[in-house]
Amino acid sequence: MDIGSDPAVPAIGVIGGSGLYEMEGLENVREVQVETPFGAPSDALIQGELGGRTIYFLPRHGRGHRLLPHEVPHRANMWALRSLGVRFVICVTAVGSLKEEYAPRSIVVPDQYFDRTSKRDEHTFFGNGIVGHVSFGEPVSAGLREILVGEARAAGATVHDGGTYVCMDGPAFSTKAESERNRRDGFDVIGMTNLPEAKLAREAEIALATLSMVTDYDCWKEDEEDVSADTVIGHLHANAAMAKQIIASAVPKMPSLADWSEHQALDPAIMTPREFWPAE
Ligand code: ADE
Repeated sequence: MDIGSDPAVPAIGVIGGSGLYEMEGLENVREVQVETPFGAPSDALIQGELGGRTIYFLPRHGRGHRLLPHEVPHRANMWALRSLGVRFVICVTAVGSLKEEYAPRSIVVPDQYFDRTSKRDEHTFFGNGIVGHVSFGEPVSAGLREILVGEARAAGATVHDGGTYVCMDGPAFSTKAESERNRRDGFDVIGMTNLPEAKLAREAEIALATLSMVTDYDCWKEDEEDVSADTVIGHLHANAAMAKQIIASAVPKMPSLADWSEHQALDPAIMTPREFWPAE
């Protein structure tokens, strides 16, 4: 479980979703290829500097949008970020809205997740002889969420501070029966990728928060067309500039120390004593 060494000032990761495949405004840009025990990440990471901080940008679906949600190598992605000294991650994700008031082009900064995915063996770094259970009652970094909500408001976005993101497998969108059920269960937005990232970030002791860009009303709303890839991409392209602006103004506000509780998540988590760990 030795992921890498930390630089004096922690780096910041940005995981871009559908419609956000690159970040402008970075200085001293270079591509970094990383191999991990879980294979290669979604793509080369783009290293650059922004506001005096080192940034690593990773397009979740790869450049050219080549990876389905269940094909995204989440473990390799988070391992690669942590091995490069990243201790703060901002994710950008497209989501469908399950509530009237969460209109397309608004931004939700979720504070809870609900797991309706099935690949649980790929959503943890533990296993193969090392047992660990991280606390996940508060799955999102409160400090990072506060920064993102503040900067999104300052940028003039319509922002919802908190909400429950239900994560489905996909790749097909929900049926109406599933969408109605998700609404009855009280969830706010639905997406296909962000929950495994939050789980792995916690295990990697990375503080994570997410800008969920609302692109559609899923398929529950009578007077709206059912969600399609076209509607998702259309709204996202319109919103990508806003996401980049929020990230650019959030970065200088990020702490230069990794001393939040998320950064010590493993302290109480590992049950297997070190002498029982398999030899590396
Ligand atoms: N991503 C964007 N819109 C979505 C929806 N309605 N369901 C699942 N993932 C989405």
